[in-house]
Amino acid sequence: MDVAGKVAVVTGSGNGIGVAIAKRLAAAGARVVVTDIEADSVERVAKEIGTVGLAADLTTEAGVKAVATLARDAYGRIDIWHSNAGIAGPPPPDSLQDDAQWNTMWQLHVMAHLYAAREVLPEMVARGDGYLLQTASSVALATQPLKADYSVTKHAALALSEWLAVRYRPYGVKISCFCPGAMLTRMLLDNGFPDDHPAIRAALTPEQVAEVVLRGLADERFLILTDPEDARALVDKGTDYDAWIGRFGQPLR
Ligand SMILES: NC(=O)c1ccc[n+]([C@@H]2O[C@H](COP(=O)([O-])OP(=O)(O)OC[C@H]3O[C@@H](n4cnc5c(N)ncnc54)[C@H](O)[C@@H]3O)[C@@H](O)[C@H]2O)c1
Repeated sequence: MDVAGKVAVVTGSGNGIGVAIAKRLAAAGARVVVTDIEADSVERVAKEIGTVGLAADLTTEAGVKAVATLARDAYGRIDIWHSNAGIAGPPPPDSLQDDAQWNTMWQLHVMAHLYAAREVLPEMVARGDGYLLQTASSVALATQPLKADYSVTKHAALALSEWLAVRYRPYGVKISCFCPGAMLTRMLLDNGFPDDHPAIRAALTPEQVAEVVLRGLADERFLILTDPEDARALVDKGTDYDAWIGRFGQPLR
């Protein structure tokens, strides 16, 4: 899709890659709507871009609807909805224990994407055009051995994107799932890794990530990756699932 002149909602655009993607879309001529749960961040980023924004909790359908209403009031339509907000959650051993954390991740990583699809698909199908872009993670292709809640909900996000693509691409709606690897945002940096940690050395800056996303939107590819090698996990699982599981080896601490 050529994003120039399009109206794009980017969730989680108060921080991290959401900010960089919102700014990159605006630089490419899109009219961007900023939204995040953090009101101060929304205000700052919307001001920097020179656009509208709304603080909203996207784990609720009311929050998603409020953002859609703002976008339509400000710009008349929604062409691109990028469901991007996410959380990493606390470190283990909580990932099998904490129902509240599972519920929050389920709501934010899956239901927020579903609420957005429910909200904007009718107008996109009617126009035979539009774009749903959903951020999952490379974890959705492989696994995150330390965090069951994050890993499972990101798998579910990919499954939802895949279903939407199968069902709605024939109506002209573009659907992509963005499955990035490590990126230099607070989500990664809050882990306290040293600078020479492999995850930090491999991580892309938010600006590099925004370029990847803009290229993905232009290509309209279903799977958008920061590292093409991440798709190998799908091949390896399909070839020999037990060998793939066996690679993880020793108990993790
Ligand atoms: N950073 C990484 O290494 C990495 C890797 C793979 C995938 N991701 C995914 O990328 C996306 C963006 O993450 P990031 O790295 O920019 O992290 P980030 O923490 O910088 O940004 C995430 C944003 O989501 C917002 N948010 C959290 N809960 C919300 C809610 N209930 N309603 C609305 N907004 C909410 C936060 O306030 C924050 O601004 C996430 O979905 C994350 O899971 C990140």
